[in-house]
Amino acid sequence: MPGAHHLQGREYSVAQRKKKTKKSKPRYSAKTADKHELYQLSVQDPESEIQFVTRVFQKLNGKKPMSIREDFCGTAFLCGEWIKSHKDRTASGIDFDQATLDWGTEHNLKAIDEPGSRIKLYSQDVRKKVPGKFDVGVGMNFSYWTFRNRPDMLAYFKCSRSTIKPGGIFVLDAYGGYESIQPMEEPRRITGGATYVWDQDSFNPIDNSVVNHIHFEFRDGTKMRKAFTYEWRFWSLLEIQELLAEAGFKKSTVYWEDADDDGEGTGVFRPRKKVENEAAWVAYIVAEN
Ligand SMILES: C[S@@+](CC[C@H](N)C(=O)[O-])C[C@H]1O[C@@H](n2cnc3c(N)ncnc32)[C@H](O)[C@@H]1O
Repeated sequence: MPGAHHLQGREYSVAQRKKKTKKSKPRYSAKTADKHELYQLSVQDPESEIQFVTRVFQKLNGKKPMSIREDFCGTAFLCGEWIKSHKDRTASGIDFDQATLDWGTEHNLKAIDEPGSRIKLYSQDVRKKVPGKFDVGVGMNFSYWTFRNRPDMLAYFKCSRSTIKPGGIFVLDAYGGYESIQPMEEPRRITGGATYVWDQDSFNPIDNSVVNHIHFEFRDGTKMRKAFTYEWRFWSLLEIQELLAEAGFKKSTVYWEDADDDGEGTGVFRPRKKVENEAAWVAYIVAEN
């Protein structure tokens, strides 16, 4: 994603979107750092996501959501924070990478005695149903862009809808903007002397395929290149909304982030039908079942 200094519109992008961290003592080095820990520190912000889905669900249903299905859950960070946020909340996390689920169990869930009675983890493809029906389904950090054609995306959305309760919501994020398909590296300092680098490596305008990497660099001069690599299709909001409708969701709405007077994202997302064409943006799509 483009660095804030490149942006002509809002000073905001995928790399800039999450926590703003203060400078701290060097703690990390490529020799000792754990890529999952750094990933969680750099790009995840479950608290904001929980606040967002709670606010939207509550507005539509007049009550708080209690159950969530986290697709592409990785380390199940969100599942853990979800059940901590209310004593009656439950979560199911799905990811086909057992090693990442194991890391999440060890570092995020063991201390709260889960997975167990309130969190279930499923090591499988997100297009395969899991037991139960949920108030909310989520697919965050653009993970669903792994599906690169309409039939695969439709199969995912249909499967998702089949386990969301009537009145429930399915929440996805998306990014875009005219700088979002340009090859570039965007660094952002995180904590403990580490820098997160979002690397937009390539974009093919024939099939919209993109390759993005996440690298980490450290103040001791060491680097962790290609800690994560994503081969995705770059989807437009309209294409996603059309497929959600095809999958049977009765309505979908784009939530766009408010900007302050300096063009900085405020972290508040509101339903919008028309917005300015910005250099780089991140939005939520909420589909209603
Ligand atoms: C970008 S990470 C997302 C982690 C976390 N949910 C977040 O919001 O940052 C993508 C995860 O999706 C998983 N994944 C990719 N394709 C999948 C599929 N078809 N079914 C299940 N998991 C999948 C990968 O194993 C990886 O852990």
